[in-house]
Amino acid sequence: MTAASPAGADPHPITGEVLARLASTPDARMRELMTALVRHLHAFAHETRLTEAEWFAAVSFLTAVGQTCTERRQEFILLSDVLGLSMLVTDQNHPAAPGCTESTVFGPFHVPDAPRFELGADIGGGAAGEPCWVQARVRGPGGEPVPHAEIDVWQADAEGFYDVQRAELGHAQARGVLRADADGAFRFWTVLAEAYPIPTDGPVGRLLEATGRHPWRPAHLHFMIAAPGYERLITHVFRRGDRYLDSDAVFGVRPSLVADWIRREPGVAPDGTRRDAPYWTLDFDFVLNPAVAPAPARPEEIPE
Ligand code: BEZ
Ligand code: FE
Repeated sequence: MTAASPAGADPHPITGEVLARLASTPDARMRELMTALVRHLHAFAHETRLTEAEWFAAVSFLTAVGQTCTERRQEFILLSDVLGLSMLVTDQNHPAAPGCTESTVFGPFHVPDAPRFELGADIGGGAAGEPCWVQARVRGPGGEPVPHAEIDVWQADAEGFYDVQRAELGHAQARGVLRADADGAFRFWTVLAEAYPIPTDGPVGRLLEATGRHPWRPAHLHFMIAAPGYERLITHVFRRGDRYLDSDAVFGVRPSLVADWIRREPGVAPDGTRRDAPYWTLDFDFVLNPAVAPAPARPEEIPE
């Protein structure tokens, strides 16, 4: 074996050998991905003069990440999130057209088939937190209302937990599916969103600690909005003034997604109900990107 070459010198010969072997990968995209992965992995080992102990520690870490995954927990996605990879992939696959709402990370706490609610209902389901009235509109890029969009919303409670993190709970809290009205408007009661830490009791938590990072996410509501003719939007609305807006553990904040939650004194709420305690309101407009047009048919596919 030759001595390790200094960082910045020519790549090790084995890099070329591996790349040559990958050159016969039948699927072109697989070939491209594997070639780039090997190039970057080898360059990383080369540049850092990776030791065997470090390589083994990395293997043990990834093993622990896999072993932490269960039906209810996806530690690999969490790892991707804290490395900024999830947000990079989101950004490059969902660029918002001018004036359209930006996308952000999906996160691990969405549940398919959440309970459906009528407009104006309380989706809190008994979640801890101060009451909050949310009203919003879904529009297209020209300002046109998007009628009857399907809205999936989910959030953590005041103690920083999603319902799915509470094994004992057995029912949905602070999540639900609504359908916007003919003008694209929707509204619901929930609880006030608060900042919360991402799960730190696994290998990703240990990585954050080892790199001197905090695990907090600024207060936010998650939305997934779908309507025919528009690209599905996966995003959050963040609470202005939150102390973690500039240091979100998963790099998901975009200034255009930060909004004012306003504290209201007891009285008649926007839905006409009387509130005996203070409550909060959020008002937000979502603007959907038009759906990407299907690629034009190739000449051989055009019927004669
Ligand atoms: C979330 O906002 O629910 C979330 C996103 C990424 C990692 C952990 C949690
Ligand atoms: Fe969240």
